[in-house]
Amino acid sequence: MTRHLITSAIPYINGIKHLGNLVGSQLPADLYARYQRARGHEVMFLCATDEHGTPAELAAAKAGKPVAEYCAEMHAVQADIAQRFRLSFDHFGRSSSPQNHTLTQHFAGRLAEAGLIREVSEKQVYSHADARFLPDRYIEGTCPNCGYDKARGDQCENCTKQLDPTDLIDPRSAISGSTDLEVRETKHLYLRQSAMRDQLDAWIDTKSDWPVLTTSIAKKWLHDGDGLQDRGITRDLDWGIPVKKGDDAWTGMEGKVFYVWFDAPIEYIACAGEWAEANGKTDADWERWWRTDKGAEDVTYTQFMGKDNVPFHTLSFPATILGSGEPWKLVDYIKSFNYLNYDGGQFSTSQGRGVFMDQALDILPADYWRWWLLSNCPESSDAEFTWENFQQGVNKDLADVLGNFVSRITKFCRSKFGEAVPEGGAWGAREDALIDDLQARVTQYAAHMDAMEVRKSAQELRAIWVAGNEYLQAAAPWSTFKEDPDAAAAQVRLGLNLIGLYAKLAAPFVPDAAQTLKDAMGLDSLNWPEDVRAALSSMPAGHSFTVPDVLFAKISDEDRDTWAVRFSGIRS
Ligand code: MF3
Ligand code: ZN
Repeated sequence: MTRHLITSAIPYINGIKHLGNLVGSQLPADLYARYQRARGHEVMFLCATDEHGTPAELAAAKAGKPVAEYCAEMHAVQADIAQRFRLSFDHFGRSSSPQNHTLTQHFAGRLAEAGLIREVSEKQVYSHADARFLPDRYIEGTCPNCGYDKARGDQCENCTKQLDPTDLIDPRSAISGSTDLEVRETKHLYLRQSAMRDQLDAWIDTKSDWPVLTTSIAKKWLHDGDGLQDRGITRDLDWGIPVKKGDDAWTGMEGKVFYVWFDAPIEYIACAGEWAEANGKTDADWERWWRTDKGAEDVTYTQFMGKDNVPFHTLSFPATILGSGEPWKLVDYIKSFNYLNYDGGQFSTSQGRGVFMDQALDILPADYWRWWLLSNCPESSDAEFTWENFQQGVNKDLADVLGNFVSRITKFCRSKFGEAVPEGGAWGAREDALIDDLQARVTQYAAHMDAMEVRKSAQELRAIWVAGNEYLQAAAPWSTFKEDPDAAAAQVRLGLNLIGLYAKLAAPFVPDAAQTLKDAMGLDSLNWPEDVRAALSSMPAGHSFTVPDVLFAKISDEDRDTWAVRFSGIRS
């Protein structure tokens, strides 16, 4: 038994995520967690909401709510949707948790002691009316380039020109509208990543098994231009983790908070502490996942994320951990994804374009989405969701292949032998050939799952379903029955046992359907089918079952077209 720590990039709190977000981190992470558990390994699967930063403040302001209240509500909404998508987190935490406050301040204190933080004086816009410094995007004014009068301090939305707040004509606060602004000196903290370049470089060099997509991004940041830059880790915001050195105040940093990208990855660790608290566990219980001096030396840690998150996970977060000089667990493997596009364009949260997780579940159960998204995930390149592809994938793989197999064999058995595995006959050459084929395929499937090759795993699983269908088609127990009922009984026995095998193998992809199959076949616990022949004998003659309801309904052309129209616009 091995131990797997698995984290998914933590989704921003500002709104419900779209299917592109889901398939880029949470869903494949769940697939892997479910698979490792199915193999009998010990798993700690963590995710959380990423709650700090300007986007959270802006979203709360838009919703007309205090930010703490907004975050609490949105956390509950995201947790509920995650549960309905069957994302099997051991804990779904919050980056605003007390545990993360303590740990983030602790890391900052350790980094300061190690001489890895420097203070920098900067000029920044201060608003008298709001009594605060304004982040660039909280300042509005007229664009010097195109004259658009609602340009933001970081960028003009109209002509896309990148701006500095001081470029704006007639600048005003986006919070209060006040023009009583002043450029002031203010101090910020920078993490001296440049001082850690060699250490990070050496660490990345030990990762020869990482995908090139991952290491090349890291190497580019380490070596391009001036090399790894120091990074500002504080902001002038109200909402966030107050800047402190451990428990001590940080002189000159009053009223400032840590930058969201500093505290968010630390939440991976803090989340384990939240898990412990929520489940009546001790510190030792979570530290054995995270501290190599307290039991985590034999943990394999895998992170899942979209490609835009890679620099933070290969450089910034490791810099925090290594810089602390403490024995925290470093990531062993990073699985990153490209983008999923939506019908000829991009999914977009800010524009409300595409299908969002709650909407998806309003029209179809989780398994339909899970299967299509995983079997078409943007693994080696970007991928595209279209309603036509979705309809085809679901109808072919789930309804015609898996669903049809289950329905045919169970209904045939019921009509000729009743609702129990029939007795009599024996398996011959055709069955031996099928078992050999399945043995090779199950081994291959496990190898792909171990390697987190998501698309290849899905292909192999589909091939395993197809093999069962082809066997049934060729053996044709409905014809055999007329001549030789005993021989037909042996064929049906094999077919029914295949359902148990499918339930076990398919559970990481389609957990609800797998549960339906297990229940229908009267199976309480299933072992991983290491030995296919043995697995196909696990339901002996006389074992009773029931015919399950239709596993997967086909998506009609009419539904497809209705949804395509319904989701062609912009979500308001
Ligand atoms: N919220 C970020 C995003 O969606 C991901 C944060 S991952 C973490 O891009 F490492 F910071 F936790
Ligand atoms: Zn402009």
